[in-house]
This record gives sequence, C-alpha cells and structure tokens, in this order.
Amino acid sequence: MLRWILSVIIAAAASAAMGQERAPVTRDDVPAWAFPAPMLYSVPDSTRKITEVVQYDRTRTVDWYPDEHPAMPDAVKGRITVYACSFCHLPTGGGRAGNGALAGLSANYIREQIANMKSGVRTYDPRFTTGINMLLVAKMDTQSDIDAAANYYAGLKYRKLLRVVEAVEIPHVTTDAVYIFDTSGAMEPLGERIIEGPDDKERFRRRDPYITSRSRAALRWPGARRTGRPATPATGQDLRAAR
Ligand code: HEC
Repeated sequence: MLRWILSVIIAAAASAAMGQERAPVTRDDVPAWAFPAPMLYSVPDSTRKITEVVQYDRTRTVDWYPDEHPAMPDAVKGRITVYACSFCHLPTGGGRAGNGALAGLSANYIREQIANMKSGVRTYDPRFTTGINMLLVAKMDTQSDIDAAANYYAGLKYRKLLRVVEAVEIPHVTTDAVYIFDTSGAMEPLGERIIEGPDDKERFRRRDPYITSRSRAALRWPGARRTGRPATPATGQDLRAAR
C-alpha cells in the first residue's frame, strides 16, 4: 500500500515537472552574494594582489617584491610537481616562523644540510609537518636543482627579523602550523619553552617577508623568576653568568 502511494506521488511530481516549462536562468537572476569575486590580498608597499588560492599554493611563490632579489631558479620559484623552496623560505630567504632563514648561509652548508636530510642524518619529529615536508623536498629535488637553490640563497643578504623577548608570562598561544599569539589580552605562563610566532598573523599568512617574529625565550634567570617580572639582562654575558 505504502509503495503504491509513493509511486503515485512520484508519478504526479514527474508529470508536473514535465508540464512546467522553466524559463532559462539568466545572470541577473543569480544573487551576487552566491558568487562573490575572490578576495584580493596585498601587503604594504607592494603593487601585487593575490587570491587566497595563490596564497596557499605550495608549488609557486608569493613574490611580493620581485625587484628586491635576483631572478629565482626553478626550484626556488616553484614548478608544478615539487614544493617551491620560496613557499617556506620566501624569495628573500628570510624564512618564516616555523622554518629557517637561508639568506647568507654558505652554498656548501645548504648543500650539506639537504644531503643530510636525504640520507636521514638530519631528521624531524613526525609532528613537525613543515619539517617533514622539507625532508620530502630534499628527496624529490634533483642535485642540479639543489645546487641552483643553494647558490641563489647563498647570494642573498640576511636581514635580522627575529626579535627576542624574555618573559615569564606570554600572550595565550594557539597553533595553526605555527604558534599564534592571542591578541585578546589572555596570558599564560611561558614555563621552560621557547615560543616563536609572527607579530602580525595576517601578514604572516600572506607570506609577507618583512614581518618580524617574536621569540620568547624561556627565562632561566633566577632573579627575574623571584620577582615574577620580565627582566632583560643587559647582555648575553649577564644571562650566562646568572645561570
Ligand atoms: C614545506 C616547507 C619547506 C620547503 C618547501 C622547503 N623547506 Fe627548507 N626547511 C623547512 C623547514 C621546516 C626547515 C627546518 C628548520 C629547522 O631545522 O629548524 C628547513 C630547513 C632547511 C635548511 C637547513 C637550514 C639550517 O639553518 O640548517 C636548508 C638548507 C633548507 N631548508 C633548504 C631548502 C631548499 C634549498 C628548499 C628548496 C629546494 C627548501 N628548503 C624547501 C621547510 C621547507
């Protein structure tokens, strides 16, 4: 009985649909909110604009300031199949929170590290996903790609973008591939950790090479611990002496 009722309903619906001529949908019928234009992002002093898709494409680079570095070899710039070195280390070689700066390292050192990653001498904890991706790149790129990338990065000038701050308490941190500092004012104890995260979360996501990271070093200075106040020793020497 139920099946009979259902088939009557389906047959009625089908004949109603066939009998009803639908007017073709024109562009004006489609509400604009359903198909928004992709958001375009930029960073200060760059004329470029990129979409979010480009921002997260690991096979090419977001090159905000193309006039500020020499032409990139393929391995650095990116191709379809392998991650671009510059996706992580950036075209300027300054690196980001979560990976190292390569600018100004010697080409030999760069080659040696990659060889060590390839052979398994230098390795990373499986929870460190970007490190694991670095190991994959080391294995996938050809030696001539590695040589070209090593020469490129060795020829760039290192700029110090890391700011070291010593503190007992730090803004609450969450993880989003790297540590992100909470800006709501919530704090947490640093404990015996070294936490590095970008100063500006949005510009970090856009791979802006000129944002600073802030590294909050674990405070092992007994005087500072007693008072509970952040204290910065005048020099690294003082810090070593106090330990
Ligand atoms: C997916 C992100 C990613 C890509 C792509 C990538 N790297 Fe790395 N790279 C890393 C991370 C993460 C580290 C580890 C940093 C550490 O050991 O603390 C690293 C470390 C290195 C180091 C060691 C630096 C040091 O100070 O000892 C070298 C050299 C290096 N990468 C070169 C390259 C080259 C050349 C390419 C392209 C062929 C490349 N990387 C592509 C993420 C990446």
